Amino acid sequence: MDLRHVTTARLDLDAVVPADLDEHFVLMSDPGTWAHLPSGRHVKPERTAEGIAHSQRHWARGGLGYWTARLRSDADVPGLRPGQVVGTGGCAVREGMSWWNLYYRFTPPAWGRGLAAELVTAALDAAHAVAPDRPVVAYLLEHNAESRGRAERAGLSLLWRGPDAGNPDPNAVRLVYADRPLDHGLLERVTALP
Ligand SMILES: CC(C)(COP(=O)(O)OP(=O)(O)OC[C@H]1O[C@@H](n2cnc3c(N)ncnc32)[C@H](O)[C@@H]1OP(=O)(O)O)[C@@H](O)C(=O)NCCC(=O)NCCS
Repeated sequence: MDLRHVTTARLDLDAVVPADLDEHFVLMSDPGTWAHLPSGRHVKPERTAEGIAHSQRHWARGGLGYWTARLRSDADVPGLRPGQVVGTGGCAVREGMSWWNLYYRFTPPAWGRGLAAELVTAALDAAHAVAPDRPVVAYLLEHNAESRGRAERAGLSLLWRGPDAGNPDPNAVRLVYADRPLDHGLLERVTALP
């Protein structure tokens, strides 16, 4: 199974590569995709290129990483063009970490269409196939209702609620979800991540 190229009902999921830079910058510089964390928005393509370089290392290290999600050429979703990049995400083992980090970010016109759900299902299946012993973890902001809903409907359980480390907003609350109980040390590392 080549996890670098996966197809779902309406998406082509391809490992993130440097050639995706322009389309990723459009996604990552869109204030709509950062409504819950405006400080995270990319203002320069160099920042996006850094993220792509991280993604390439994830694939090299863990045999799995984040995908670029394009609408399939035979998919008919009103308001979206076939072939268009609609989002990014997946499961990756980030530098210095031992768990699968579940991530998803889609362009607002793609929300509420079940497209993120297709990517998340594929990501969980892939992570469980590549390294079932690694827990899948998602951390997110409490006020991000869509992200919470996506994690909960993917079957992850809420394990922790507390301050959002590194957030310029001191009142921001982080939630940690996982597909199984986490040992104390791992949970401490997730809650300390900036
Ligand atoms: C988080 C995010 C990806 C979630 O998007 P979303 O719209 O909730 O997720 P989906 O597109 O999968 O939509 C889910 C809903 O679409 C609806 N839907 C409409 N058409 C559908 C279809 N054909 N098939 C399936 N579901 C469909 C369903 O009601 C579904 O809800 P359900 O899961 O309860 O069944 C999106 O809000 C986002 O990118 N936000 C900005 C980035 C971000 O904050 N990322 C998280 C960082 S931690």
